Amino acid sequence: MKEIEILVLPGDGIGPEVMLQALRVLEKISDITNLPFVIHEDLIHGQAWDAYGTFCRDETVDRAKSVDAVLVGAVGGEQWGNLVPNGTPEEKDGLIRLRKELDVFAGIRPAKSYSHLRERSPYRHELLREVDLIVLREMCGGVMFASPRGIEKDGAQLIRGFDTAAYNLEEVRRHAHFGFQLARQRNKHLTSVDKANVMESGVFWREVVSGLASEYPDVHFENMYADNCSYQLAINPKQFDVILADNLFGDILSDQAAALSGSLGMLASASLPDDPSNSPGIYEPVHGTAPDIAGKNIANPIGMILSLALMFEFGFSMQEISEKLHLAVEEVTRTGPLTPDLGGLGTTSEVTDAILHSLERNF
Ligand code: IPM
Ligand code: MG
Repeated sequence: MKEIEILVLPGDGIGPEVMLQALRVLEKISDITNLPFVIHEDLIHGQAWDAYGTFCRDETVDRAKSVDAVLVGAVGGEQWGNLVPNGTPEEKDGLIRLRKELDVFAGIRPAKSYSHLRERSPYRHELLREVDLIVLREMCGGVMFASPRGIEKDGAQLIRGFDTAAYNLEEVRRHAHFGFQLARQRNKHLTSVDKANVMESGVFWREVVSGLASEYPDVHFENMYADNCSYQLAINPKQFDVILADNLFGDILSDQAAALSGSLGMLASASLPDDPSNSPGIYEPVHGTAPDIAGKNIANPIGMILSLALMFEFGFSMQEISEKLHLAVEEVTRTGPLTPDLGGLGTTSEVTDAILHSLERNF
């Protein structure tokens, strides 16, 4: 059987401890299925800066391009905050460089409500029933990357800060196609968000996306203003299936959607290229590095473990393994143990132990 090569970038804060759990899960899957994983490990962002004086080395990029998937724990921390003040986004952040280098424009950010975790959510239970949506965020363009951008100064006096919200045709088209195709595999409902009422780039986005809808007659398509989408996510989240968003709105709406699941620690993400079966995607939990709890073995490993599920589903087309992982997570939400972010007293490794047992039983 062909080896499956995975680049593992544990990152900063709680990144390494949740990654450790992902590796335990991979080992178990390998035991059960005989899949031959080859793990390459490297440093990214803060760890890379401290060791090499750069947030992401060229060697890391080369390796990332050559493997079948890239797994990331979490990156960031105040101490690495403003080390390259005049740098490009890629120079300021190792993960952003990697996303750009791999051209993983399609950011899949699922949010789902688990019946046993509804107590943890700030929402009323009846709003959450059946919530299962994906925010599909554009990851490689838009206002976070386009130029010009900068801060104008007059001597020490700050004058003006600016970014450019811009997308070209191809960037919007490929993202929209991805969205229609994703919706087609799910509940066939695509909601595209923009601010076409006030922004030219929004008018452009809406025109381009709407123009493709006729190619997907089986998908129920609608446009929605981004601010209204935020409101709708709060009052009636189950109306959504796939939300197609640009980089900035997707960043914001995916955090908002995360609140539906009860804890940021539950959420996984995949950043995918045009053809995820041919070139590597990046799979990472949505949560940050949580420096306040780093090293305490109480971080929730589920976001990381569900990122593996996304890797098997989208990267390797191994639906069965992905489903078993979801099942194992579902089970642990019912039986415990759970980490403190979910109101439990379990440790990171105990939650994983339970997931490993469930995998053993259910395969
Ligand atoms: C995310 C994060 C990152 C982003 C930050 C940390 C650069 O907020 O993945 O949503 O905006 O992409
Ligand atoms: Mg974000």
